[in-house]
Amino acid sequence: MQIDVALVPSQARAWRGCVCIVIDELRASSTITTLLDLGCPDLFLAATLTEARRVAAAKGAWLVGERHGRTPRRFDFNNSPAELRRASLDGRPAVLSTTNGTLVLGRLRHQPVVLVGCLLNALACAEAAAAIATARGYDIGIVCAGTRGRFALDDAVAAGEIVRDLIRLVAAEPAPRLGDAALGVVRLRAAYTDPTEALAMSTAGRLVTSLGAADDVTVCAELDHSRTVPLLRPGPPLSIVPYAGDPDAAVAAATTARLFDPWSA
Ligand code: MLT
Repeated sequence: MQIDVALVPSQARAWRGCVCIVIDELRASSTITTLLDLGCPDLFLAATLTEARRVAAAKGAWLVGERHGRTPRRFDFNNSPAELRRASLDGRPAVLSTTNGTLVLGRLRHQPVVLVGCLLNALACAEAAAAIATARGYDIGIVCAGTRGRFALDDAVAAGEIVRDLIRLVAAEPAPRLGDAALGVVRLRAAYTDPTEALAMSTAGRLVTSLGAADDVTVCAELDHSRTVPLLRPGPPLSIVPYAGDPDAAVAAATTARLFDPWSA
């Protein structure tokens, strides 16, 4: 099994047929994991604010998201795990639209399986990816969402955590082959005793702190707080469901949904 890391999304363009893990540590991946943990029954993704408002009206859903860190007009919540934990979501569905993370997820819709990973669910996500890849003979590709197409320290440190877990989990198989970026992020992760430090000094960490959401850095750094592994279903509309532990069902769900994929334009 090959384990590779795309340090920016464009490096994943040529990947075919692998189990992908998308990491937007600050904050889309952490928000998605948190929404499912808070019992959100249906979680939809929207590429644009207009689309988000349309889907929310149709589904009676909360509007969650940001543009450049700020809450868009008529949205109920920011893309903020800390704010969502304080809220009462009343079992309503949610629509999430973010500057970058939701777009990266949408662009990977052609992959057989797309999971959402972050520090909050790192071990659970690595276990799910290893199980699906082993059962179906796929490689594993981790995609760091980055910031405006550039390397993001917070995503890379979270990727290092997940690669480290994967190495342990698939050690009994023929040893996994690690791409250079996978080797690099493991070393990068080891450079921080506490990942909070890396998150706080990253570009995204400094942005959310400057906008008064420093508590998101603390919440997102809660390593292995969650056992939830979000799984992309390409729609329409594009949505996220919790991975239920069945590798075959995960692949089948993604394949069936792709037949109706509206993001292919
Ligand atoms: C995104 O998806 O663009 C990010 O998570 C940005 C943010 O949360 O501020």
